[in-house]
Amino acid sequence: MKKFTDVHDIGDLRVAIAEAMAVKANRFAYDTLGRNKTLLMIFFNSSLRTRLSTQKAAMNLGMNVMVLDVNQGAWKLETERGVIMDGDKPEHLLEAIPVMGCYCDIIGVRSFAGLHDKAEDYGERVLQQFIRHSGKPVFSMEAATRHPLQSFADLITIEEYKKKKRPKVVLTWAPHPKALPQAVPNSFVEWMVAAGYDVVVTHPEGYELDPSFTKGAEIVYDRKKAFEGADFIYAKNWSAYADPNYGKVLNTDRAWTVDSEAMGWTDDAYFMHCLPVRRNMIVTDDVIESAQSLVIPEAANREISAQVVLKRFLEEGL
Ligand code: CP
Repeated sequence: MKKFTDVHDIGDLRVAIAEAMAVKANRFAYDTLGRNKTLLMIFFNSSLRTRLSTQKAAMNLGMNVMVLDVNQGAWKLETERGVIMDGDKPEHLLEAIPVMGCYCDIIGVRSFAGLHDKAEDYGERVLQQFIRHSGKPVFSMEAATRHPLQSFADLITIEEYKKKKRPKVVLTWAPHPKALPQAVPNSFVEWMVAAGYDVVVTHPEGYELDPSFTKGAEIVYDRKKAFEGADFIYAKNWSAYADPNYGKVLNTDRAWTVDSEAMGWTDDAYFMHCLPVRRNMIVTDDVIESAQSLVIPEAANREISAQVVLKRFLEEGL
């Protein structure tokens, strides 16, 4: 594996899940695999879970870890080629990336969508430049269009809690005051369809995701109908994808907040969210605090998904 940016990079999901379960059963079994190897984690955006879980995963494998917050303490980076650099950005990404590649063996990158230019976001310019110019294996710690470490952790969690071979998994849009990227929902649907689950997506009209991500899932606008018979409810906000509203908030209708009445329409479903979550916008206090809430096990499994990915890179030889 030379990169990890989407579900195809991990190969057979059954093999990946079995590997994740083995890592979880003994996460220190490979504690010398990463000896004298260095992970560099580069954050263009904030993080709590990704930062801590990926660092912990690397430490479990015996790696050294360096973390760079690009917007705090590093030179501001220009990302556009052809720009006359007479503004506030003294360094270009095209020099910074190969320099960073000199100091490490594996690179993790977090770079969110700007939500202004769909072509730029969906072209994944920053992530692709790291892949092209760093000379090192690169993995996504959430990019403009996908969050594969989160989706892999979500898959591990569903495999641990599912009561039937092919559960009904529902992704539901929920309200949020700010415009958020489509990366988590895109990625979640991509992974759940690849896993062969019965996948339903529900949202208000205007919030249709890129159809290349929802291929294989059923879109149901009637939320009650979508929730009926569900085994897992995965809540997430996202901004509009379709033109001319790309990146806009069209709706903050709290009728879409996941509450106990909505969970009552399901087949005693588990509640999931990647976190951070805005309580009583996305989900009510009672649902997120209920016995059916899996938000903490999901977050815990972020360490496992990251460890499987780093282990694969290390085993391939660097
Ligand atoms: N779920 C997730 O990626 O959390 P952070 O943004 O805190 O890393």
